[in-house]
Amino acid sequence: MIFRAGVVEVGQAHFGELVDNDGLVQRGVDTSDEWIRSRSGIERRWFLPADDPRKVSDVGAEALRDALARAGWDANSLDAIVCATSQPDFAAYPATACIIQEKVGARNAFGLDVTAACTGFVAGLNIASNYIAVGQCRRVALVCAELNSRILDFSDRNTCVLFGDGAAAVLLEAREDGSGVLGSELRSDGSLVPILDAPLIRMDGKAVYRCAVTEMPAITRSLLQRLDLGIEDVSLLVPHQANIRIIQSTGDNLGIPSEKVMVNVQNYGNTSSATIPIALRQALDEGRIHPGDLVLTVAVGAGMIWGANLIRW
Ligand SMILES: CC(C)(COP(=O)(O)OP(=O)(O)OC[C@H]1O[C@@H](n2cnc3c(N)ncnc32)[C@H](O)[C@@H]1OP(=O)(O)O)[C@@H](O)C(=O)NCCC(=O)NCCS
Repeated sequence: MIFRAGVVEVGQAHFGELVDNDGLVQRGVDTSDEWIRSRSGIERRWFLPADDPRKVSDVGAEALRDALARAGWDANSLDAIVCATSQPDFAAYPATACIIQEKVGARNAFGLDVTAACTGFVAGLNIASNYIAVGQCRRVALVCAELNSRILDFSDRNTCVLFGDGAAAVLLEAREDGSGVLGSELRSDGSLVPILDAPLIRMDGKAVYRCAVTEMPAITRSLLQRLDLGIEDVSLLVPHQANIRIIQSTGDNLGIPSEKVMVNVQNYGNTSSATIPIALRQALDEGRIHPGDLVLTVAVGAGMIWGANLIRW
């Protein structure tokens, strides 16, 4: 019996203040709308106000509740909660996933966190889908929640204009009809640790850019080749939303038409692990994903770690 992790629903948390590029200038950042748009495509992003006491577990739980409500699932039916985040409620432990478990009342689940920066969704989906593939779990929630504003240095214009806050969750369920996650690939290169790190985000932008435009197309090709599929089989590419130039370069390199590439970085900025599930939610709302479609998700993040998943919807 081959079990695959089918994506049943995608939920999203809506919170914070919408700050456009001029709003950053008003907050004292030495930048301009023209610079940010032309270099990144970003027009606005959501920030949780600094005095708002909510934590990642709160916005993550809100996203998961939204997904559960859409699916009509009882939280007690979850076997596991995997949380991808770079701002866990506690620096060491417990896992934010356990706090989310308590907040949504998922008493039969186990929870654990994944640290893979902007590749958190792709790595988390790899882990969560494998729990299902080996028969250990039937229902798993992957929660991607980020409060990047908490780790941004607003005196560093090289980084603070590129990120936003966001949270989204996907619900996965064992399927035997051939749909679900068909495969995933992950790679990392620890020699690139110094080009992107935190507690306050610090980045060599050009080096990160080079890594992203090289590795995202390469790992996409590698995954498709392993699954004996071609780029023409992909219905929708949902790449990590860091920068419009990286997204376009990846699409061009792969030879995939722009109408098959999901883009919403202009409205959110880079919400790290949450970009892909937020984009999936929007694609579903816009009727851009149908049952049977092949959806390819690909990301790169601090580590550097990069990866891709192919999902038959
Ligand atoms: C960061 C990034 C947008 C910069 O673009 P770029 O084309 O490399 O930058 P440019 O060389 O055109 O511009 C750099 C200049 O702009 C200035 N600058 C940097 N940030 C600025 C800002 N927010 N506003 C105005 N000017 C800025 C720099 O000081 C520099 O000026 P200088 O040449 O006088 O020293 C680009 O490198 C990038 O997208 N990198 C990847 C970032 C990313 O996505 N990270 C997360 C991945 S998960």
